[in-house]
Amino acid sequence: MPSIFDPYQLHDLTLPNRIVMGPMTRAKATPEGVPTPIMATHYAQRASAGLIITEGTWPERRGQGYFDIPGIETQEQQDAWASITRAVHDKGGRIFLQMEHTGRVGHEVNNGGTTLCAASDVPADFKIFARDDGLVQMTTELHVLSTDEVWEVIDKYGKAAARAKAAGFDGIELHGASGYLPHQFLSDDANRRTDEFGGTPEKRTRFMIEVLTRLIEAWGDSHRIGVKISPAIRYNGIVENEVEETYSILLDKFNELDLAYVAFQTPESLRSLSGLSNDDLADGEIWHRFPYEFIRERYRGTVIASGDLTKELAQNAADADKADLFVFGRAYMSNPDLVERMRNDWPLTPVDMRRGYGGGEEGYNDYPTWEDQRAADPSRPIG
Ligand SMILES: Cc1cc2nc3c(=O)[nH]c(=O)nc-3n(C[C@H](O)[C@H](O)[C@H](O)COP(=O)(O)O)c2cc1C
Repeated sequence: MPSIFDPYQLHDLTLPNRIVMGPMTRAKATPEGVPTPIMATHYAQRASAGLIITEGTWPERRGQGYFDIPGIETQEQQDAWASITRAVHDKGGRIFLQMEHTGRVGHEVNNGGTTLCAASDVPADFKIFARDDGLVQMTTELHVLSTDEVWEVIDKYGKAAARAKAAGFDGIELHGASGYLPHQFLSDDANRRTDEFGGTPEKRTRFMIEVLTRLIEAWGDSHRIGVKISPAIRYNGIVENEVEETYSILLDKFNELDLAYVAFQTPESLRSLSGLSNDDLADGEIWHRFPYEFIRERYRGTVIASGDLTKELAQNAADADKADLFVFGRAYMSNPDLVERMRNDWPLTPVDMRRGYGGGEEGYNDYPTWEDQRAADPSRPIG
């Protein structure tokens, strides 16, 4: 029975343990999407994770749904990311870039006034945090991509992947979940196209598969390209009616592509994260059939689970062979040494979510390790 503290062979990449720092948007980049030095400190502090996956990062400006989130479209952004990957590698860590194009999800006040693009003229019925304005309704003015423009977007993913490789990342995770652009293409509600990218479940999977193919070409190795999905989760206004059919096709194609891994997110975690009272976040019945049974049975490669995990839940899931690697999100925000804390049963520092997004190092880089806490206060109980 593998322990979550045992090494894991992710193809040619050896992970020293099975604990993954999940992708977390923190809005610490410049308004133009250039990563900042405090991000290097943050990720390097967490280098003992088996694998770090960065916050969602846009391959083109139109795909920047949220304010101050980083891009990987320009040389300046690439150079700034190179400092971050170097800092993580210097501490012995491994880091994948999460590539996130938010499509119809967003607001012009967050991306420098760029019109959002979408598969079809179907605005997301959901709210979003806008710079200075708090929670607002998402933009309804969308540019519908022509067929040629869809191929151009796919191309941009490829160019961004080349930059990610040049910046020294160990791989890329395509964000195919949470109602963003690839998920919009999968959905029979958001995607009403009649060209080769819509009309049937097979055609609706095409965008994600073409993007993955382009990422693999740019990288030159499919084992360094992973993908995150969230079947049937109604987050960011996404609605899916042909879930089983669509995801069966998708998972079969993932097998053919021989990817690094498939990651998925639970609706429970999205509900608690969104801060919105949306009872519609997931179809409970489908959810229960999907992640732990459907994905595991249908997909032959490495599976990463995420959502409200504890050390015990992750170990139980490993014992039952439900997944191979385990994402910790919020616990990683406030515990840079999460692996050591869980391994030694040291207490975890609770996260202050009021400092979740934006701002500087406060609530970001000032969470101590357990050893620093003990040194400052030796009377602290050990466990
Ligand atoms: C502040 C914050 C930002 C997040 N941003 C992203 C993101 O950019 N991309 C993504 O795929 N998931 C994102 N997530 C989801 C996490 O990766 C993770 O799946 C989720 O938090 C569930 O894990 P947890 O229950 O351990 O926190 C975010 C979560 C948090 C707390």
